[in-house]
Amino acid sequence: MTKLWGGRFQKSAEQWVDEFGASIGFDQTLVMEDLEGSVAHVKMLGACQILPQEDVQQILGGLEQLKKLAADNALEFLVANEDIHLNLEKMLIDLIGPVGGKLHTGRSRNDQVATDMHLFLKNRVGEIIELIELFQQTLIAQAETHVETLAPGYTHLQRAQPISFAHHLMAYFWMLDRDKDRFKDSIKRIDISPLGAGALAGTTFPIDRKLSAEYLGFANVYANSMDAVSDRDFIVEFLSNSSMLMAHLSRFAEEIILWSSSEFNFIELDDSFSTGSSIMPQKKNPDMAELIRGKTGRVYGNLMGLLTVIKGLPLAYNKDMQEDKEGMFDTVHTIVGSLKIFEGMVRTMTVHKERLHDTVHKDFSNATELADYLAAKGLPFREAHEVTGKLVFLCIQRGYFLLDLPLDDLQEASSLIESDIYDVLSPLAAVRRRNSLGGTGFDQVTIQIEEAKKRLA
Ligand code: ARG
Repeated sequence: MTKLWGGRFQKSAEQWVDEFGASIGFDQTLVMEDLEGSVAHVKMLGACQILPQEDVQQILGGLEQLKKLAADNALEFLVANEDIHLNLEKMLIDLIGPVGGKLHTGRSRNDQVATDMHLFLKNRVGEIIELIELFQQTLIAQAETHVETLAPGYTHLQRAQPISFAHHLMAYFWMLDRDKDRFKDSIKRIDISPLGAGALAGTTFPIDRKLSAEYLGFANVYANSMDAVSDRDFIVEFLSNSSMLMAHLSRFAEEIILWSSSEFNFIELDDSFSTGSSIMPQKKNPDMAELIRGKTGRVYGNLMGLLTVIKGLPLAYNKDMQEDKEGMFDTVHTIVGSLKIFEGMVRTMTVHKERLHDTVHKDFSNATELADYLAAKGLPFREAHEVTGKLVFLCIQRGYFLLDLPLDDLQEASSLIESDIYDVLSPLAAVRRRNSLGGTGFDQVTIQIEEAKKRLA
């Protein structure tokens, strides 16, 4: 089959060579973006009187037909035509005749592919922002029902201090909020048109880049044609923002997995977000959370992959840059799926309030209360820490907890201790009293949830 660029060639490559070089297997994802880019380009060519209106109308008619066929999945892409751009151009010429060959006036595949990628990412990032917001709403809804649910808070995965379970959930709300901000901020670097940059140097035709950008809804145009066709940093940034999001989801996934184990037993995932074992009938596995934790690896991989691809590339376009696509498509697919799954998983999970309540009553996570109590009575905190540590040790030896210690033992350790200590040591009081800004005290958590709702409104 003759190539659209075949004039200079005496023989063609063998098919397996073509197959290695072709991107049509994956860049057909960009079919609509490519057609829209062509529509804007040819309208601009007409408006600037570079092509006669008659030709423009014919080309637009052909592009419309192609759009319909694409929507019906009725286009047949060929490896021989290399990529989405040449496939569509060939189809256009087959459809409307040689006039279709005028579409590529004043344009190159280099600005064309960059335009497609900008259009694609702009739309997808918008969708991702909406999905993050949906998940945030679910987190707020779960948090609202668990403001007064006591839970153990950990450091080093050792019981540290009791907290409100809502506080723990809301921590993820704020991580996601920053992720969302990063995606939002990135839009101003995606929303820029490379169209009209040509192969690298611009064009001799009197084109109007701002007009084609306006047709495509871009807020801006690249100021430098070489930068326009060489830039992939907007994709690196997307992969980086996605990596950060996945890091957050992966930490949450890890907690979901721990919490649903028999050892923790803090939550139970809904059947609809769990799987069974083919051999062990009793199993209910948190597969979805595990998969999200695992998929984080491929998103990081996509980021490292692209950073490595662009490192050391001389300006301007190089075929290496065709490698920007699969990682980006894969990342969009992965984070969209992960966000949807996570939202459903958190919305439908059952929180074992009783078990959480029991847990904080059978540990030493109220030890800080005793130390703070002594410090508030004037004992230097370091000494208060020492006294409390010794009492914890005494409890461990006797096999019980601080609240079980008789007043005599407590007073022997420090004469500053009075009978009000038992109220102070209650986990409920411990949480309620942590009322510093952003703390886990119920009032603060309620304020925090209100703030979060305002952020979403
Ligand atoms: N398929 C190519 C890519 O994805 C399109 C650009 C080709 N440009 C070129 N000069 N060969 O990068």
